Amino acid sequence: MYGMVNQAMHQMVSEVHGEDAWNRIRLGAGCEVERFLRMDSYPDEMTYRLIEAAVEELKIPAAQLLQAFGEYWVGFAHAAGYADFFRACDSYAAFIRQLDAMHARLELAFPDFKPPQFACNIESPDQIEVVYRSHRVGLAPFVHGLLTGLGEPFGVTATVVHLASQPPESGGATERFLVTLASQ
Ligand code: HEM
Repeated sequence: MYGMVNQAMHQMVSEVHGEDAWNRIRLGAGCEVERFLRMDSYPDEMTYRLIEAAVEELKIPAAQLLQAFGEYWVGFAHAAGYADFFRACDSYAAFIRQLDAMHARLELAFPDFKPPQFACNIESPDQIEVVYRSHRVGLAPFVHGLLTGLGEPFGVTATVVHLASQPPESGGATERFLVTLASQ
């Protein structure tokens, strides 16, 4: 995955647990990269190994770590120069609807990009069903955290329930979520 993802994980872990903890995680994962370059592509394996090593070092279940990482990502992307992507939409639902278009625009900057896909059904003004598809597996808790964290820039509280995992026919993952929105 692009370095931006590993960089965000480095920043989140070191903010809470310190740089020494991150270095133990990095070395535990057999990762020699001290500073990830945001626009460089690294093997997915490296990201998965960093997650595994963080779970071991911090004694946090993987799902909890990934969920926290998803919530963190929203603020990280804001601060990393992508605030306009959020400002361009006037509601949570409008943002979700254009997520694929947004990731597609990012492909110009990240040519090796393998973005996820999102489909959504607006069930009612405050309920959205979101279907996430990826050729990667194991990232449902990350998406759960993202969908929760996304409430913040739109001034709503998003309560997320993971409804189901659908094993797709050829690898990857398909996950369904229900998001309930309430004004903050
Ligand atoms: C403007 C903000 C955002 C930026 C700059 C951004 C950028 C990226 C980048 C660089 C990757 C790595 C992909 C790769 O290397 O192949 C990625 C992956 C991902 N993004 Fe975004 N993203 C943003 C917002 C979001 C939001 C709001 C969501 C969901 C609500 C989301 C969902 C994901 C997921 C789930 C992945 C993991 C890859 C996968 O599932 O296969 N992103 N994004």
